[in-house]
Amino acid sequence: MADLVQLWNAPDEPLDCLYLFTHDGANPLNGVVLPGASGKAIGRAVAELGVRGLEGEALVAAGPTREFRRIACFGVGKAEEFTVHTLRKLLRRVLEQAGRNREYQIAVAIPVPVRDVAPEQVRTVTIGELALADYRFDRFRSRPDEATKVDAVHVVPLAGEDEKGLGALIERARRLDALVRLARDLGNRPGNDLDPESFATEVSAMFAGSAVRVTVMGAKELAKDGLRGVLAVGKGSAVEPRMVRLEYRAKKPRAALVLVGKGVTFDAGGISLKPAAEMGEMKHDMAGAAAVVAAMRQVAETEPPLKVVGLLPLVENLPSGSALKPGDILTMCNGTTVEVENTDAEGRLLLADAMAYAARFHPDVLVDLATLTGACKIALGSELAGMFANDDDLARQLERLGHSTGDRVWRLPLLPEYRNLLRSEWADTKNSGGRWGSLPASAAFLARFVPEKVRWAHLDIAGVAYGSTSHNGLPPGATGFGVRLLLALLDELGGRA
Ligand code: BES
Ligand code: MN
Ligand code: ZN
Repeated sequence: MADLVQLWNAPDEPLDCLYLFTHDGANPLNGVVLPGASGKAIGRAVAELGVRGLEGEALVAAGPTREFRRIACFGVGKAEEFTVHTLRKLLRRVLEQAGRNREYQIAVAIPVPVRDVAPEQVRTVTIGELALADYRFDRFRSRPDEATKVDAVHVVPLAGEDEKGLGALIERARRLDALVRLARDLGNRPGNDLDPESFATEVSAMFAGSAVRVTVMGAKELAKDGLRGVLAVGKGSAVEPRMVRLEYRAKKPRAALVLVGKGVTFDAGGISLKPAAEMGEMKHDMAGAAAVVAAMRQVAETEPPLKVVGLLPLVENLPSGSALKPGDILTMCNGTTVEVENTDAEGRLLLADAMAYAARFHPDVLVDLATLTGACKIALGSELAGMFANDDDLARQLERLGHSTGDRVWRLPLLPEYRNLLRSEWADTKNSGGRWGSLPASAAFLARFVPEKVRWAHLDIAGVAYGSTSHNGLPPGATGFGVRLLLALLDELGGRA
């Protein structure tokens, strides 16, 4: 990851490139505070380039000043069409191009408004996106390409900014960047590298000695506490299931929050085996758990005035001679019996147990994140997560925070009627019904396991947690969806809005 630094003074050595942006032919230096005495020379170079600001336009001038070896100017198109997504795409392109050109030290000046971001938020969002723009997952490249890595991005100040203010924004962007990267890295690791055992071990190590207490529950502890849903889904794998409990409590907590993240390190579907095409994508089926880990890191580092508990049920859903079978009946952690209609509807079995188990922490608010249904991906694509909530205020809060953080959610109906789709002849409910209504049915199923009087929101992130290709300026693979949203929620509940 490139280091983010401020650029107030002329650098000792010239930087490799200064990146400028313009829309509708506006002067790209408007509102930009350039270091050193080269403002005029740069202005002339930019004028000579003759950028019109068309989208996708990129022009480069070589060697004009003492501060910068060259200057590049990108057009961003019409100001009213410039959104977070176009910003992200653009910055990713800049970092890629800089890497390819072997530019190790670059400066970036972005005085451009972003249509879907409130004016007072634009700078925060822009610098946050800048920090993430060079993310790539190269853990498994035998020779990671060091030559295409930018070492430092120098942020050019804008008019009215000071060192302290810009420093704070950069610091915040660094934090966010580290946490989103953590969630993406976990999300991208394949099943042979990250399984319930290694996931639990690594999370334990990550929180050792921090304000967050970690407990890893193995098969024995799961059985003792009656988490038979988690155990049942894990039966087909040679690696035992786990549940990781991450607990934090401030002296005088203002609220108690439990976060549950679906942690299926690989989902083959079990005996109800998935088709081979695209099955490999199911290595991302633990993206919910990854987002919760990142949020708990934030808790460990900032110690907010809250009680926060993260629950990560971790399993591998595989077919085998010992696997869970269709027709099996389970008695879940809260006593509800479930007939397994489809072993591929495994996520809700894990979540149900973890959510019922959450009762012992007496939460005011319970939020779960899960790559739960293909139906949600069909309904909302990759633009929005599906949200179901039993509380209007919590739903509105998450909608609002989703909008301001870019982790957008869309509320869908939580109606008890949908339970009828999961009627079982033999047990209290089935884990899956027919095709129609299967998305709201999944939420109606989960609702049975929400502890009494707890405000709850379920986020189905199946469509947004990863992409098979790059889109909206996101890298291919895990997106880290949910991290920013959870951080914003933690801030608000802790009174640091
Ligand atoms: N992990 C999948 C859901 C999923 C599908 C996530 C596609 C991302 C992309 C989940 O465990 C699953 O298999 N759900 C089934 C439920 C069905 C059997 C009721 C589904 O969506 O098909
Ligand atoms: Mn499944
Ligand atoms: Zn799954």
